[in-house]
Amino acid sequence: MTEENLAPEETEEAAPQAIKQRKNGLYPAISDELTAVMKAGWADTELRDLVPAEQSAYAAKRRAALSARFPGERLVVPAGNLKTRSNDTEYSFRAATEYVHLTGDQTEDAVLVLEPQGDGHDAYLYLLPRSNRENGEFWLSGQGELWVGRRHSLAEAETLLGLPARDVREAAAELAERAEEHPAVTRVVRGYDAGIEAALAPHTTKHGDAELKVFLSELRLVKDEWEIAQLQAACDATTKGFTDVVRELAQAVATSERWIEGTFFRRARVDGNDVGYGSICAAGPHATTLHWVRNDGQVRPGELLLLDAGVETTTLYTADVTRTLPINGEFDELQRKIYQAVYDAQEAGIAAVKPGARYRDFHEASQQVLAERLVEWGLLEGPVERVLELGLQRRWTLHGTGHMLGLDVHDCAQARVESYVDCVLEPGMVLTVEPGLYFQADDLTVPEAYRGIGVRIEDDILVTADGNRNLSAALPRTADEVESWMASLNS
Ligand code: GLY
Ligand code: MN
Repeated sequence: MTEENLAPEETEEAAPQAIKQRKNGLYPAISDELTAVMKAGWADTELRDLVPAEQSAYAAKRRAALSARFPGERLVVPAGNLKTRSNDTEYSFRAATEYVHLTGDQTEDAVLVLEPQGDGHDAYLYLLPRSNRENGEFWLSGQGELWVGRRHSLAEAETLLGLPARDVREAAAELAERAEEHPAVTRVVRGYDAGIEAALAPHTTKHGDAELKVFLSELRLVKDEWEIAQLQAACDATTKGFTDVVRELAQAVATSERWIEGTFFRRARVDGNDVGYGSICAAGPHATTLHWVRNDGQVRPGELLLLDAGVETTTLYTADVTRTLPINGEFDELQRKIYQAVYDAQEAGIAAVKPGARYRDFHEASQQVLAERLVEWGLLEGPVERVLELGLQRRWTLHGTGHMLGLDVHDCAQARVESYVDCVLEPGMVLTVEPGLYFQADDLTVPEAYRGIGVRIEDDILVTADGNRNLSAALPRTADEVESWMASLNS
């Protein structure tokens, strides 16, 4: 079904998008009678007893911190636009992280504005109002509610989000005009809304905008209690998704890695919004490709499945969890030996996550264990100190041991080195601990039996006041636990 089915002939002033539709000319001109019929007979569905959304109070605190950091400046945070896939179909929309964090809203094209006012700011939103029934846009425009579904009225959105709302169709012109008439340093979060950026271009600088983005990235480093609950929910749904996959391994063996991707995706869509990143469903030697997202390979009993996947909640917080599972339910001796090394490295890493520790500590703790094992197995010549100093273990450990987690899977990515990689951990930070060992299928420096084995174990760790809490602990992790869990699901 496409919009052309209702292609009109005579309404382009009222609904510009109709111009595109009329080219097809599938329908004759819209009669006055039809216009009249379409206008009338609709119930008033305004929702008048809404209460503020749970996250609105938390978003207000974040906006207060933003306001305090940039006094006297105009701050513009767009949600982003739909991206065309082809013709009049679009990719599914995922609102910009900065906008979601500061508003709790996820509406396409929306814009948050902090306008300097006295010692602080007036914050307000630009949103698309409900579709007009008088001029026919509700059924003639591609953005009409008859096509895309009912949206909140501006009054409803104001109650839910705790912010005044204006018509987004005026946003670019109004912002440009205000920037002219009330000069102030103006910053926009770039990369999401070319129209808003263009309207403000004479008043913004690349450097100034980048500073805003860095600040907003750092604002997300410490999660509040509401965000922690979201991340826990993301991990709980992810546990269910992994369980679904284990239950369906026989189907995956009969088909391909795609069955695993689809199985996890179904859970993500039913229990959340989406997957938080492309699921890595890597069977056999594909496990040695760090971001294997093609997921088109065979799933063979006797090999390992590395599944790295996370459910994103309806509020857009994501888990990021990896388990490496024996496809036939039991590790062989070498698989178990490598798995145990990665497990021990992860345990050492998790133990190093606590308030006051350096962010770098958990990586170093994990690398230490992996380097020791690689020397013990004769794959590297000791001493271990020399291996670590030269980084020789990295041929098989390949990546950093973790990252911040939140609305983005690699959250806070624009934070400065001193605030992130060189930081000291604080309660409320959430990060992954995910060491791995990867022996490529064509690696001639290891015995043949190792080739094609990849193992990663990844959990989502909250820094607490006195240590840490593993938010993804519900998923079995030791080799023995993994085997009995798989057996219990497939018995
Ligand atoms: N889960 C994918 C990554 O952390 O890169
Ligand atoms: Mn990760």
